[in-house]
Order: sequence, then C-alpha cells, then structure tokens
Amino acid sequence: MSKPLNIGLIGCGFMGRAHSNAYLKVNHFFKREHRPVLKAACARPQELEKLKAFAEAWGYESIETDYRKLIERKDIDLIDICAPNFMHKELTIAAAKAGKMIVCEKPLAMTAAEAEEMTAAVEKAGVPNMVSFNYRRVPAISLAKQVIGEGRIGRPFHYRATYLQDWTIATDVPQGGMALWRLDVKVAGSGVTGDLLAHSIDTAEWLNGPIQRVVAATETFIKQRMHVETGKMEPVGIDDACMFLAIFANGSMGTFESSRYARGRKNFNTFELNGELGSLYFDLEDPHILQYFKYADPATGKKIESHLTGWQRIHVTNSEHPYMGKWWVPGCTIGYEHTFVHGFADFLAGLEGGEKFQPDFRCALRTQKVCDAVLRSAKEQRWLEVE
Ligand SMILES: NC(=O)c1ccc[n+]([C@@H]2O[C@H](COP(=O)([O-])OP(=O)(O)OC[C@H]3O[C@@H](n4cnc5c(N)ncnc54)[C@H](O)[C@@H]3O)[C@@H](O)[C@H]2O)c1
Repeated sequence: MSKPLNIGLIGCGFMGRAHSNAYLKVNHFFKREHRPVLKAACARPQELEKLKAFAEAWGYESIETDYRKLIERKDIDLIDICAPNFMHKELTIAAAKAGKMIVCEKPLAMTAAEAEEMTAAVEKAGVPNMVSFNYRRVPAISLAKQVIGEGRIGRPFHYRATYLQDWTIATDVPQGGMALWRLDVKVAGSGVTGDLLAHSIDTAEWLNGPIQRVVAATETFIKQRMHVETGKMEPVGIDDACMFLAIFANGSMGTFESSRYARGRKNFNTFELNGELGSLYFDLEDPHILQYFKYADPATGKKIESHLTGWQRIHVTNSEHPYMGKWWVPGCTIGYEHTFVHGFADFLAGLEGGEKFQPDFRCALRTQKVCDAVLRSAKEQRWLEVE
C-alpha cells in the first residue's frame, strides 16, 4: 500500500510545471512506498487566473493565494518552493518552523548568509530537505560520476565548465515583473552567477571535489533597462556574464564561464575533465551522450595502443546506465524533465531508509559560498579563499 505524500507547491511557472510533472510520473517508473499527491498549488492573489489554470492543468486538489495558509495546513506534508530566489529564505524558514519537508529550487538563496540561516532552520527542525540541482541526475552526468569513482580518469588536472545562453542581448528587454525577474537584482540576487553558474559549481564539486580558491570577473553589458513595475529606466544590478578561475582542493585547475550574451547558445551547459588516465566531456544540448577518452587502463596502468585511442561517444541509454533501467529499452532517449523525476525518486528513497538525498541544504550552502566568493572576487579584483 502506498503512503500519500501531500505536496504544497509555491510558484506556478517553469519549475512549478517541471516539478508537478515529475511528481505525477515518479511512481510509474520507480517503485517507492510514498506517492506524491498534488494537494495544493499557491501563488500570489494577482496571479489568481494563472494559478487556477495551472491547478487545473496539473490536477491540484486546491489552491491558496497566501503561502502562510498553505504552510499552516495540516494536510500538507511537503512544501515545494518554485518561486523566485528572493522568496526562498522566507518560505523555507516558515515551512521549517511548521515541520514540513522542504524541496527548494536553486540557487538556494540570494547570498550565503541567507543560505546559512535557511540551513540552520531546516536542520533545527530536522525536516527532510532537498535542493533541486537537477543536472546531477542527467544519466550521462551520473555516469561521469561513476566513471570518476571507478578511477578511470586518474589524477585530475583540469576542469572546464561553460553555461551559455543568449536571451538578454536586446537592449529593449525590460527587467523585473513576472516574466523577467531574473534581470532584477532585488528578486534574483545575482545574474548568471546564481542562475547558471550555481548549476556548474554544484556539478563540478560533485564530480571533482571542493573548490578552494577563485578569481573572477563579471560584466553587465547593458547598464540600464526599463523596469516593468515602475515603467522607468533603472540601473541593471545583475551580472550578465561571469568568468572565473578556480583551484580545487585536489590540486586541479578549473575555468568557469557563463553568459546570457552568447549568440546562438540556448542552454549550453558543458564540462570537460582532463586526468592522467582519461578525460570526460558532456554537453547538455546533447544530453544522452557522455564522451570518454581512455588513455590507460585504471587497473593495470597499461596504455591503450596509440592507433586505437580516440574519444568514445557513449550513448547513455543502456539498462546498466544510471536510471536508464527504469525507462525504455536501450537506444531510446529520455530528456530534461526526467532529471526532476530522478530527483524525486531519490528523495523518496531517502525517506524510506535509502541513502539520504543529496544535494540537501547543507550541500547547497557550499555552492552558495562559492557563488558569493566569485561575486566578491569580481568586485575586489583578487583571488579569494572559499570559506
Ligand atoms: N533547476 C533548474 O534547472 C531551474 C530552472 C529554472 C528555474 N529554476 C529556479 O526555480 C525558481 C523559479 O523559477 P521559474 O523559472 O519557475 O520562474 P517563473 O518565472 O517561470 O515562475 C515563478 C513563479 O513564481 C511566482 N512569481 C513570479 N514573480 C514573483 C514575484 N516577484 N514575487 C512573488 N512570486 C513571483 C509566479 O507564480 C511565477 O509563476 C527560481 O529560484 C529559479 O532559479 C531552477
């Protein structure tokens, strides 16, 4: 018999849809005791019509326009935060006080100081918690983690990440409001650093260990944009682009680059790891492929004969590959939305005595500290240790 897990979801945009879809799918593909029930969706009163349509489309049993009411409800077990970044702290602290489980979208917070408070709140309440760095659960990225764990890359030398988009190049794109809150620093906290590089940093630290030191540069190419709420031209406070160098605790060197001004790039999230025995490369625009270069056998150290070396494109769809045994038959691909299904499958497994879910708030606090160090380094124009 399955145990219902009643979901109260806040925010009915992109992530609201991605999470709702994943809650509905997870038990069809993963055998879990808990079954998410879409109990209530919540958004602000001015979004009532959008909220109603959202609730109807996804089959929510009820709606709320005041998050406090949602959090107080006895029939809600888990609060899922899919609202813009500036709301994460307030919502987390209220939900933790009410003893609810919490799923929070990334970036965890606007700053590391906020993330500290949020982590303390969930840990004090002792509630299960999850931060939605969903890219860890792209099967090809999970396979990269496995390959590294098997010692196939050997001593790492270089980690190279890019996260590029191109949707803010036009000068007449406004900032703020419902659709463009990402450009408003008061709502987003930062630009590409929190929005895109937080993903790259989470993946990097998961695959290659902690980042110790960083030096960064940021740029805001368009200095003023019309604000949707005031109707006036206002300064742009976010970073449009950010690049940073990193030294990892394992001695390897990292480069990270992110921009929303990379014409032609839509969601170009890549990484490459170069080690003594081999290399790995991944590109989210080709998500079912992991590229692997094998230089030597990790068990024997024996070099591959030179005329046979070359990059392998592993089509990550075999049942032996992470998560893929739960989906279709080898050769059939899955996509973006499945990363959220995998996240919830693992979160539920954690509730049921399996491995505790990662990344949790404590882990995402680390990422936030790296983001803070990057932004501070860009301002102070010097290398900084990550706290
Ligand atoms: N894991 C990922 O890959 C991923 C992808 C996109 C977004 N996110 C994160 O998810 C969160 C939500 O992003 P989204 O893309 O779903 O945004 P969105 O704009 O599509 O939806 C956000 C929802 O929040 C509400 N909202 C919007 N502006 C608000 C405001 N000023 N005050 C209060 N509520 C407001 C509305 O209900 C809106 O529908 C953000 O923290 C974002 O960083 C994560």
